[in-house]
Amino acid sequence: MGDSRESVDNGVLELDYTVSRLLEKKGVSRRDFMKFCSAMSAALALPATFAPKIAQALDEVKRPTLVWLEFQDCAGDTEALLRASNPTVAEIVLDVLSVDYHETIMAAAGHQAEEILAKVVKEQKGKYIVVVEGSIPMKDDGVYCCVAGKTALATAREVCGSALATVAVGTCASFGGLPAANPNPTGAVGVKQAVPGATVINLPGCPLNADNLTATIVHFLVFGKLPATDSFGRPLFAYGKRIHDNCERRPHFDAGQYVEQWGSTAHAKGHCLYKMGCKGPETYHNCPTQKYNDKTSWPVGAGHGCAGCSEPQFWDTMTPLYKRLPNVPGFGIEATADKIGIGIAVATAAAFAAHGIISATRHGDESEGAKED
Ligand code: SF4
Ligand code: F3S
Repeated sequence: MGDSRESVDNGVLELDYTVSRLLEKKGVSRRDFMKFCSAMSAALALPATFAPKIAQALDEVKRPTLVWLEFQDCAGDTEALLRASNPTVAEIVLDVLSVDYHETIMAAAGHQAEEILAKVVKEQKGKYIVVVEGSIPMKDDGVYCCVAGKTALATAREVCGSALATVAVGTCASFGGLPAANPNPTGAVGVKQAVPGATVINLPGCPLNADNLTATIVHFLVFGKLPATDSFGRPLFAYGKRIHDNCERRPHFDAGQYVEQWGSTAHAKGHCLYKMGCKGPETYHNCPTQKYNDKTSWPVGAGHGCAGCSEPQFWDTMTPLYKRLPNVPGFGIEATADKIGIGIAVATAAAFAAHGIISATRHGDESEGAKED
């Protein structure tokens, strides 16, 4: 971690190495590096021909300093990062990025740790990247979350306010998440709301997909700026498409083949989970294509409906989790969250409610158990 910044190789500070040189030093082959660049190109929804350009940029760019702040959270996003393997967490955390401060994984503690953070803010003002995990309580001057005697609010304003850019990871840091669920006893908000002047990009999800964090950082290193976002501050490459439009169960939705009971034949056959409460039709995230756990699976692929975890206030707006959405806007694959207006959603509600009823009647033999509500 911080120590590697001081190490010297033939008189060159490790801090001055380019990203690819650092990976090479750690034994990552050129072939694996190129595979990583291809994966990042795909994650960023760029054409495959872009991989060599990413490689070239990473050959030239120096690694940025990064600090990771944790506030009101479950540490799920840190867990997601620690389980990332493309590249491995060691490559991301210890090599590609110079992570100077991360409470969960850093060796330093107490005053020593806080001194490292203060040093970064002072000596690298406007040059470092902050990752924030967890929401920030605003009520009662922020007393509900304090680290090292300072409120999360004060720390966020100081550290994010002096950063080059802030990446809010997970739904809590992006929009307040679970701590902000009604009645929101601590007045929890996301980083953008707590530090209005900061440059913030949101990577919501419970947890975030670590590949999306890596891709965001790579985009920043390659293009010198954060990726384009939607109106919720989410990068379009990861949140530009509806779950419903990329879902492997979509043919079953269109055919009116729904699961109506867990463990039923329809469930075993992989039919659509809409009637079991899937929120995929109103959720924007690249889960069906990027997947989790080394791309092995994702919630709907594993047989559970999408809970809408990447949407603002999903605990209040997407619950009860197992109750079907009252309506399903029928937009094409190119639709984005910005294009869905309340009026349009209301206008299509009746049509989709009818679709649900008609489908249930037509395919009654496919579904078993409880009737939809
Ligand atoms: Fe997939 Fe859910 Fe849409 Fe069904 S409702 S197609 S399970 S996203
Ligand atoms: Fe979350 Fe739904 Fe993806 S629950 S992880 S947005 S499938």
